[in-house]
Amino acid sequence: MPTPNSATETAIKPFDADTIADAAARIAAGECVAIPTETVYGLAANATDGKAVAGIYAAKGRPSFNPLIVHVATMDEARKIARFDSAGENLAAAFWSGPLTLILPLAENAPIADLVTAGLDTVAIRIPAHPAMQALLKASGLPLAAPSANASGSISPTRAEHVARSLRGKIGLIVDAGPTGHGIESTIVASRQHGLTLLRPGPITAEQIETAAGTPISTAKSETISAPGQLASHYAPSKPLRLDATDAEPDEWLIGFGDIAGDSSLSPSGDLVEAAANLFAALHEADASARPQIAVAPLPDKGIGQAITDRLARAAHRD
Ligand code: TXA
Ligand code: MG
Repeated sequence: MPTPNSATETAIKPFDADTIADAAARIAAGECVAIPTETVYGLAANATDGKAVAGIYAAKGRPSFNPLIVHVATMDEARKIARFDSAGENLAAAFWSGPLTLILPLAENAPIADLVTAGLDTVAIRIPAHPAMQALLKASGLPLAAPSANASGSISPTRAEHVARSLRGKIGLIVDAGPTGHGIESTIVASRQHGLTLLRPGPITAEQIETAAGTPISTAKSETISAPGQLASHYAPSKPLRLDATDAEPDEWLIGFGDIAGDSSLSPSGDLVEAAANLFAALHEADASARPQIAVAPLPDKGIGQAITDRLARAAHRD
């Protein structure tokens, strides 16, 4: 897998059977691959493998972890990952395959790495319509986590050359199938007990959602005002968290790194990609322990270490 500092040769290949075979082999090996969807180009990796997903963050240089969308080929696969209520069923039937992402509770034993959901118990999922992404899903036989294929801070890519401009040297393969159809990211709708919420407007409109679901949809803004906290899109532990801890107080569960062993370790060998892959599981474990406080060993503030440090700093301040 490419590390953030190694210069990787980036191949740009036209969408055909050979390219999809190459892409699927890279996905199986834990690499990430840029590939078009009907909305924007995505940067896809095996959603069941935390280290592969950490590679997405390393390539994008994203300074913090955001939960990612899981792409699947079929409704059967979707049901292994998310729990569909009746609104979710109706929306999937009406708009999949297509530019709609549903936020639903994670299914029991869903085979999804914690880093994909950023430790949440909900998951963002969609069946994309683009033949290239569909072909890769089928060839790999895996659910694929994919954010937009741009470096952090640059705009979403609708052409292979946009991807190349921001990620050349950071990823091994860009599958080129020309400009994407919609050019904006998928509509995101959360289905919760109290109803549907539009989290991100997109190609499918709120009116279309209401008609298909048969229930009204609220927008994220009004919900934020009426029910603060419900939109929390980040997991944070419930206990106080201390950073840069070189050893633990008696009431602390210490999450180690490198030479600091701790009660658990993000990466005994000091590998930041491995640490990112283990971060949310380590926080959940610390939260569930009998000790009332959490401490975390110091991490280097470089590469993907910055995203880990940012997430921990925000957990320490209870965002
Ligand atoms: O069109 C698209 O949706 C593209 C293509 C590649 O599929 N993907 C995309 O992914 O736009 P990304 O990572 O750029 O945006 C995903 C959004 C983020 O704003 C994230 O916070 C939100 O989805 N999200 C993911 N999981 C969530 C969850 N469990 N709860 C709330 N928001 C979630
Ligand atoms: Mg994006």
